[in-house]
Amino acid sequence: MLLQFELVADFVGADDSVVHGLEDLRSGSPRGVTTLPPMHHPSEPSPASTIDATGSGAASGGQADALGEPAGGDVSPSSPVRTVDVYTHGHQPAAVAQHARRTAEDCAAFARDVIRPESQILDVGCGPASITVGLARWASDGHVTGIEPGGDILAAAADTVAGASVANVTIAEASVYELPYGDNAFDVAYAHQVCQHLSDPVTAIREMARVVRPGGWVAVRDSDYSTMQSYPSSEQITRWREVYRTVCRHNGAEPDAGRHLYAWFREAGLPQVQMSGVVQQFWTDETRQNWGCSWAERCLHTAFARQAVEYGCATRDELEWIAAGWRAWADNPDAYFHYVHGQALAQVV
Ligand SMILES: C[S@@+](CC[C@H](N)C(=O)[O-])C[C@H]1O[C@@H](n2cnc3c(N)ncnc32)[C@H](O)[C@@H]1O
Repeated sequence: MLLQFELVADFVGADDSVVHGLEDLRSGSPRGVTTLPPMHHPSEPSPASTIDATGSGAASGGQADALGEPAGGDVSPSSPVRTVDVYTHGHQPAAVAQHARRTAEDCAAFARDVIRPESQILDVGCGPASITVGLARWASDGHVTGIEPGGDILAAAADTVAGASVANVTIAEASVYELPYGDNAFDVAYAHQVCQHLSDPVTAIREMARVVRPGGWVAVRDSDYSTMQSYPSSEQITRWREVYRTVCRHNGAEPDAGRHLYAWFREAGLPQVQMSGVVQQFWTDETRQNWGCSWAERCLHTAFARQAVEYGCATRDELEWIAAGWRAWADNPDAYFHYVHGQALAQVV
């Protein structure tokens, strides 16, 4: 089967323009991604070459540091449009592996009714693309474009697509703040756990709506970190929640995004919002171990851990203590965890 992979901006100047990548991947082409001249699905408009592949402009967000995050976390004051924020989680293996467990069935059920076999779908911030390939199966006669603003996660997404036997997916390098697509290009624009990482989610939602045709849909799902609660209660997990939320806010983002979606959609010019919510739970041996051990790792070996120390939100010793708390929670057969996702669905008029 023919697989389409596309990098709208290629990796020329990758040292500067790849903002979320890992150090060891910055020197060459991303694994599993064929870097081709822009190649577009026939029903998509041509990208409007708005990405700055020189690494000097807004799309790059400036120089990346050793963990691949943009230094200072911001575009330069002279940049007219912000296109990249500091990504709190980072794309290190412990975070990406957790995200790769997600499926369209779990994470896009609230939008299932508006996706038709022929739908043209934009998956904003597709991450490792495990949801993207599920959307592609739903839109079996349509097409899904998964975008990420740069870095090795593009290669991870391409690997997922290659392994999934779906021919109707394009992985492209782009930021939600400046989508390289024309007005009305898609039937559905979807973003899962992305707005919580953005310093300007309203602009992002407005931009998603711009590329959706009248009558199409914008669908966004985000968690609400304040609702993340464990049994038994744990001093370390309580402290983890505090540290995570503080780091996220330091990055200019809203960790409790789920509860903000309704207002953000309205502010973005989408007044007819259908809100729903889902409780995510971890209590089986497998899910409890995975969630607890994954967060133990993430507290030690990801950009989040690095940022927590760098911003003065936690010491390294404290992170070790929090990680031990997560492992103890995961090893308790009585342990349980839950949190709320907010889900917003709105038709573009
Ligand atoms: C928590 S991950 C979610 C990944 C995927 N949607 C999922 O749920 O598995 C958030 C993703 O949003 C991406 N992201 C951050 N800023 C973005 C931007 N300006 N435009 C598009 N994606 C962005 C990050 O790189 C990251 O991969």
